[in-house]
Amino acid sequence: MCGIVAYVGLKPCQTLLMEGLKRLEYRGYDSAGIAVIQDGGLHVAKAVGRVANLEDRLESIGNFHGTTGLCHTRWATHGGVTEINAHPHTDDKNGIAVVHNGIIENYAALKTYLEEKGHVFKSQTDTEVLAMLIGELYSPAEGIDLEAAVQAALREVTGAYAIAVICEKEPDTLVVARKGSPLLVGVGNNEFVVASDASAIVAHTAQAFKVDDYNVVKITPKGFRTSTINNVPVTPKIEQLELELQEIELGGYAHFMQKEIFEQPKALRNCFRGRMDVRESKVVLGGLNDHAKELTKARRTVLVAQGTALHAAMIGEYLLEDLAKVPSRAEYASEFRYRNPIIEENTVVVAVSQSGETADTLAALHEAKDRGALALGVINVVGSSISRETDAGVYLRVGPEIGVASTKAFTGQVAVLTLITLFMARRRFMSNEQCSDLMAELDRLPEKIERVLESDAKIRKVTERYIGKENWLFLGRGYNYPTALEGALKLKEISYIHAEGMPAAEMKHGPIALITDGMPAVFIANKGKQYDKVMSNIQEVRARGGHVIAVATEGDNEIRKYAEDVLYIPDIPEPLSPMLAVVPLQLMAYHAAVLRGHDVDKPRNLAKSVTVE
Ligand code: F6R
Repeated sequence: MCGIVAYVGLKPCQTLLMEGLKRLEYRGYDSAGIAVIQDGGLHVAKAVGRVANLEDRLESIGNFHGTTGLCHTRWATHGGVTEINAHPHTDDKNGIAVVHNGIIENYAALKTYLEEKGHVFKSQTDTEVLAMLIGELYSPAEGIDLEAAVQAALREVTGAYAIAVICEKEPDTLVVARKGSPLLVGVGNNEFVVASDASAIVAHTAQAFKVDDYNVVKITPKGFRTSTINNVPVTPKIEQLELELQEIELGGYAHFMQKEIFEQPKALRNCFRGRMDVRESKVVLGGLNDHAKELTKARRTVLVAQGTALHAAMIGEYLLEDLAKVPSRAEYASEFRYRNPIIEENTVVVAVSQSGETADTLAALHEAKDRGALALGVINVVGSSISRETDAGVYLRVGPEIGVASTKAFTGQVAVLTLITLFMARRRFMSNEQCSDLMAELDRLPEKIERVLESDAKIRKVTERYIGKENWLFLGRGYNYPTALEGALKLKEISYIHAEGMPAAEMKHGPIALITDGMPAVFIANKGKQYDKVMSNIQEVRARGGHVIAVATEGDNEIRKYAEDVLYIPDIPEPLSPMLAVVPLQLMAYHAAVLRGHDVDKPRNLAKSVTVE
C-alpha cells in the first residue's frame, strides 16, 4: 500500500530516495512526498499523483542536496487525496517530519489531547497526529532527544505502523520504528537505506535487517542502535537480502504483469525443485516435517485468504477434500475473523498470501490460533508478518511479484497447495501409484504452461475481437469454478471491464438474464468429469445470443461447433488443470488492459499489498 524510503549517510540523498520511491510505485499510491534536512532546516515537497509529478515539483523548486531524508508514496486511508494529506507530515515546533505506513487507531483521542495543548492541524490524517505528538514530547533540554521522543510517542499509540522520522535539530539522525507493518534497514558503508520493501534497498546494499514489532532504530552515518519502545536494547540479525536486482527489473517486457505471466514455467520449476521424489512417491516439505503427525490426524482444514489468494485457496479446498479426504473450506479471511468461527479439535488453518502482510489474513490467522488451530502458511515473501506467525509453512519460491495483478503467485499458491495435499494424502488414503502419477504430471506442468504461452498472439487477437464489450462472464465448474472467478477478477482489476465469475450451473438461477446479443462468455471447458454439463451451459448462453470463448483441451475439435473462439491448453488431470487454464485468462486480461490503453502495472485505486483491514 503506502511505501517508505529513508536515507542517512554522507551523500546527497534525493536521487536515491526518488529511485527507491519509483521501485515502490507498483504497490499502489495516490500521492508522494519527500523531506530532506539541509542548510540547518527541514525542506518538504509533495505532489498528488505519480512519483514523476513529485520529480517535476522538485525540479521547479530546486532539487534538494541534504544527506538525511525520507520519502513516501501514500494510498489514502484517513483523508482525501490532496497535497496536504500526503506524507511527510511535520510538527509545528521542532522541524520534525514523519512518514508512516499503517493506521493509528487512537488518533482521534490523541488529536483532541494535542489540540487542547494548542497544536493546530492542517491535514485529516492520523500521521500528522503522530508528528505532532513526537514534537510535543521532544525536549533535548530534558534529555528527550528524537529517539526518546519517538519511543515515548509510540508508547501512547495503538494501531499498526512503520515510520521514519527526522528532525532539523538533529540533522544526522534518522529514527525508524515498526509495529505490524514491514520495515527493513539496509546497512552500507557509513550509510543506511531504510525501506518498507527490499526492492528499494537492493540496488545499494545486500546487507539488511528487519525491524521487529515495537522496536525503534536510531541511525546516524556512524552506526545504529536498536531498542524497544521502552528503551531496552535489542540486537538485530543482519542478513543477506535474497532479492536479485534483475528480478525486480522489466528485462525486456513491457510490464511486470506480462513478465510474471511468462515467468510462470520457471517459477513453478523453482517451486517444485527438491520437493518431489517421484520414484519414492514422496513429497518432501521440510517446513511441515515437524507437524506431519498433526497433519495426518487433521479433521478439518480452513483456508483463509483474500482476492486472488482466496481463489487459490478455493482450489486448495477442492484438492484437500478430493485427494486427501480432509473436510475443507476456503473463506474470506475478513469474514472468518468476525463471525465467531467454530474451531474444532485437530483443525488446521492455512493462511494463503503472496505478500504475507495482508491485514485481513493476518487477523484471521490470529483468531484461528487463539482458538487452538495449527497454523500453516502458504506465503511468497520470506520473513513476512504472516510467515513469522504461523506454526509451519511452505514458501512459494516464485520470486518477487511486482505486478499489482497477481499471476505467478496464484499458480505458485495452487502448486504449493497441491504439494501439501499430496503430503497429507500419502499419509492418509492415497496410493503410491496415484501420488507418483500426479507428481509426474506436476513435473510436466511448466513445459505445458510454456505451450500455452506460445499462443499469446492468438489470445491477443481473440481479446481484440471483444475489446469494446463492457460486460463479460467467466464460467467454470468443479476445480475450474475458482479459475473462472480468477479470470473475472483479473479482467476487472486492470482493464476496468465489468466481469462476473460464477459456477457455470449457477447462471441459470438468475445471472442468465444479463446475457444479451454478443456478450462474451468465457467458459473453462477442458476435459473433465463435468465436461458434458459445461457443454449444456454453453448451449444455454449461445441460445441467448452470447458469444462463447472456450478454454478447451487440445484435440477437442467438437467444441468448435459450440464456441465462437477456442483457446487450447494441453491435456492434464483435472485437479491440476486450474494452473494451466488460468494462463489464457491472465493473458486475456493483460491484453484487454493494454488494448484499452491502461497502465497495467499501476491500476487505478489498487495497492499491491493491503495492510489495512
Ligand atoms: C489480485 C490481487 C489481490 C491479492 C489480495 C491478497 O490480483 O493481487 O486480490 O491476491 O490482495 O494479497 P496477498 O496474496 O498478498 O495476501
